Amino acid sequence: MTFFTEAKALHSFGVAKLMYKIALEKRDHQYAHDMYLLGLIHDLGYAETNSMLEHPIKGGEVLKEKGYKYWKEVYNHGRADSKYESDELDLLNFADLRINAFGEIVSFEDRLRDIGVRYGIHSPQYIEAGIIIENIKHKFSIPSEKED
Ligand SMILES: [Fe+2]
Repeated sequence: MTFFTEAKALHSFGVAKLMYKIALEKRDHQYAHDMYLLGLIHDLGYAETNSMLEHPIKGGEVLKEKGYKYWKEVYNHGRADSKYESDELDLLNFADLRINAFGEIVSFEDRLRDIGVRYGIHSPQYIEAGIIIENIKHKFSIPSEKED
């Protein structure tokens, strides 16, 4: 049984492309490529659980076992209670919350509204996403959205 649906694949592809774009502005191609791969596999945990709260842990554990360099980013993404800090985790959370379920770039507000519709505005999913957005929203910008 897998919960990694076609929509999850579209979302992951969108996150990968956005992470690549932002990373390339900051660092070299190799790093941007690493961030692309991180975006592609960040929701791997949905292969085993349908829970928004559990999937980072499931995915992170699988990738830790395989010796994947950024398993901690997968393990801690989308979790406001996480004590782990890294630029890569912030970038993953940023992209994750700017890409909707169809892989399109949307505003933080639209993404949060969608989470509210799906899980309820009193759900831990909604509350945690709101906290993460506040923490990372000014840390990155999308190259195509930059004012000149
Ligand atoms: Fe996720």
